Amino acid sequence: MEQPKIIIAIDGFSSCGKSTIAKQLSVALGYKYIDSGAMYRAITLYFLRHSVGFYHHGSVVDALQHVNLSFEYNPDRQASDILLNEENVSLEIREMPVSNKVSEVAAIKEVRLFAVEQQQKMGIMKGIVMDGRDIGTVVFPQAELKVFMTADPAVRVLRRFHELYEKNNQITIDEVRHNLELRDYIDSTREESPLKRAKDAILLDNSNLTPEEQLNKVLGWVQQRTGNLQAAEIG
Ligand code: DC
Repeated sequence: MEQPKIIIAIDGFSSCGKSTIAKQLSVALGYKYIDSGAMYRAITLYFLRHSVGFYHHGSVVDALQHVNLSFEYNPDRQASDILLNEENVSLEIREMPVSNKVSEVAAIKEVRLFAVEQQQKMGIMKGIVMDGRDIGTVVFPQAELKVFMTADPAVRVLRRFHELYEKNNQITIDEVRHNLELRDYIDSTREESPLKRAKDAILLDNSNLTPEEQLNKVLGWVQQRTGNLQAAEIG
């Protein structure tokens, strides 16, 4: 009997390794992986390119009508690239100009409604792992497995620094730390869907876990959930 497919929601602060575990799970389980943060980043890129006033309701609503987001599987990364109006912007959305503004854009109510509606449609068939800040609380409150990730702040700063340094050797640790602290602050204190742990989310601190240890832990939780569903179907 085939294992029933579930929805896996992964939330947590910036640079906790959410995308690493989400990607590992999607490969191991043959699930679709959606990086919801990439959607907020692509919208931010559009707003920056078109000088959209973030605090002007009419401009935001009008701009969103011209934003088309889609995902395209990239076999080299074993994950999907994000397309903004058919243009692959996966690399540009990781650069500092977008990182410095994305939390402000993600705090706008209309932007969240726009993104969440699309995210919910992607989960209709289940068999999906999505990472973000509000996946277990707002996007998929019914998800069978919710994980809330944390890691030591110093570990997170170093991880993000190494990732960015490969592309830009001008970047400093202080710049990265400042960006992470500011984003965490805005993400967890905003009015609209702030980052918070869902009551039924399992806490995963991966400061001292290898990627393999982390994967095995979460796969164990997936097995439990799918096993329960299978038992319910049989019973
Ligand atoms: O995961 P990330 O760092 O790429 O996310 C970029 C920003 O988008 C982050 O600062 C918060 C926001 N975000 C959000 O508000 N809700 C989500 N589901 C995902 C990301």
